[in-house]
Amino acid sequence: MRGRVVLLALGALIVCARPAEVQEDPNASARRAMVDLIASAGVRDSATLAAMRVVPRHEFVPADVRNLAYGDHPLPIGYEQTISQPYVVAFMTEQLRARPGMKVLEIGTGSGYQAAVLAVIGCDVYTIEIVEPLATAAGALLARLGYTRVHARAGDGYQGWPEAAPFDAVIVTAAAPEIPPVLLEELKPGGRLVMPVGPQDGMQYLVLVEKGAAGKTTRRTLLPVRFVPLVGGKR
Ligand SMILES: C[S@@+](CC[C@H](N)C(=O)[O-])C[C@H]1O[C@@H](n2cnc3c(N)ncnc32)[C@H](O)[C@@H]1O
Repeated sequence: MRGRVVLLALGALIVCARPAEVQEDPNASARRAMVDLIASAGVRDSATLAAMRVVPRHEFVPADVRNLAYGDHPLPIGYEQTISQPYVVAFMTEQLRARPGMKVLEIGTGSGYQAAVLAVIGCDVYTIEIVEPLATAAGALLARLGYTRVHARAGDGYQGWPEAAPFDAVIVTAAAPEIPPVLLEELKPGGRLVMPVGPQDGMQYLVLVEKGAAGKTTRRTLLPVRFVPLVGGKR
């Protein structure tokens, strides 16, 4: 009898607890629609799409544009910088062939969103941001949201991250006329680098560099894009 009462009480508890547990994130359907759009535009990599289905992009944008967080466009994040267009984030992540356990260097932390997507895939992410307040804010946000695989620091990506090199993949989210040589040096044989290349005010293209087992690099032009400039590089 006593056992039945306990069981009944337990049942009531579970029933009472259920609504709170299953409450859906109010942004989930907007996020799903965003990812469906990206998939229909040609991104096929299931790891990338699954990660973007869960990373809360609205947390990575300023409050005054939060209602636009799940549109497929870049948004301002302050300091004349942007969080990249979701399609471009997905396309670049797919090109990296990001997989669990990979060590990835990102130049241009910005909001921290791209780093979070890579972390959800299971990559260990080393991300560098040259605008100090952005680096500090992104580092704090990533820590608050529990992305412990991301190591964020303020600095100039032109210097690479020698203490953590070499990397399985490198992603640069700001454009320069040439790929900084140190980033190619810090790429492992068999690794992939994706970066927008071109002048600040002219045509830029996403470029994919693959480093062969013997260290020889091959380069492919993928897509016309428009990115903020990669600054720094002077020493
Ligand atoms: C398009 S935004 C990056 C978007 C970012 N990946 C995100 O998910 O929000 C480009 C960023 O690169 C940063 N940046 C520009 N030059 C840099 C450099 N030399 N080293 C590190 N970061 C740099 C900019 O300050 C800016 O925040």
